Amino acid sequence: MRRAVCPGSFDPVTNGHLDIIVRSARLFDEVIVGVLINSAKEGLFTVEERISMLREATTGVDNVRIESFHGLLVDFCRAQGAQVLVKGLRAVSDFDYELQMAQMNVGLSGVETLFMPTNPLYSFIASSLVKQVARLGGDVSQYVPKVVEERLEAKLRSR
Ligand code: PNS
Repeated sequence: MRRAVCPGSFDPVTNGHLDIIVRSARLFDEVIVGVLINSAKEGLFTVEERISMLREATTGVDNVRIESFHGLLVDFCRAQGAQVLVKGLRAVSDFDYELQMAQMNVGLSGVETLFMPTNPLYSFIASSLVKQVARLGGDVSQYVPKVVEERLEAKLRSR
């Protein structure tokens, strides 16, 4: 079985992430979305909330599974039996760091990274920007799935 991992922080998942996940699911037997547990960085959403939004947003895509991980990404790939990482590239500015990580990951374990060009509709979207716009009262409905829009609103209202 050909398995790929789409890793990230997903704080929260955006339409750009979803596009990469769904396109990857057409290319692989199974796609595992790996949500990083980063104890050094507190996010807006807990890892459980991120997973729940990802699960809801990917309902109907049967070969996608959502899991969390900590430690090295390549160890997570090995534990999941995944041979490939898929990363979206929004712009050339993403490339330098992604190339560095891809080379480190293949060197560490042989896990290959495939870069998928982001749909141009989503090339400027980043979770950080979505959070900033939402915090300042802007409308982010075009950029995130409905479940994220609702949870962002609720989270920011409760703060
Ligand atoms: O959505 P992000 O925050 O850009 O995702 C970054 C992520 C999770 C892909 C990256 O931080 C990562 O791979 N973290 C796991 C730790 C690791 O394996 N580090 C070595 C990478 S070469």
